[in-house]
Amino acid sequence: LMPGRTITIQGSVTPNATRFHVNLCYPSGIALHYNPRFGDNAVVRNTKERERWGSEERGGAMPFQRGHAFTVRERSFRIIVNGMQAHDYRHRFLHLQQVTTLEIDGDVTLTSVVQW
Ligand code: GAL
Repeated sequence: LMPGRTITIQGSVTPNATRFHVNLCYPSGIALHYNPRFGDNAVVRNTKERERWGSEERGGAMPFQRGHAFTVRERSFRIIVNGMQAHDYRHRFLHLQQVTTLEIDGDVTLTSVVQW
């Protein structure tokens, strides 16, 4: 990652979804774990350093719905869902250039992933 880069993820939540996540990873942790949970009706955001999770952020919108398509745009950890500013995540891991891996997993079907 670099300041000012935007990652755009398009996909669909599966009809019986429990959860999915989008992780921005560095070699020994996860700078941003972005985790919609349909049972809790919340989007959990967190950071993992080595094997330890930090404190969860759960406030704000739950802009995802089971069975629905979405577009998520992340820019400098500002997260926009379907064109609406949904969440901000204050940086805890500050070495953006070490964030080299995007991981997406869970109850989701991807249509496209683009960075510019
Ligand atoms: C844990 C869960 C992880 C991750 C983490 C975020 O309970 O097992 O997958 O979502 O919460 O804080």
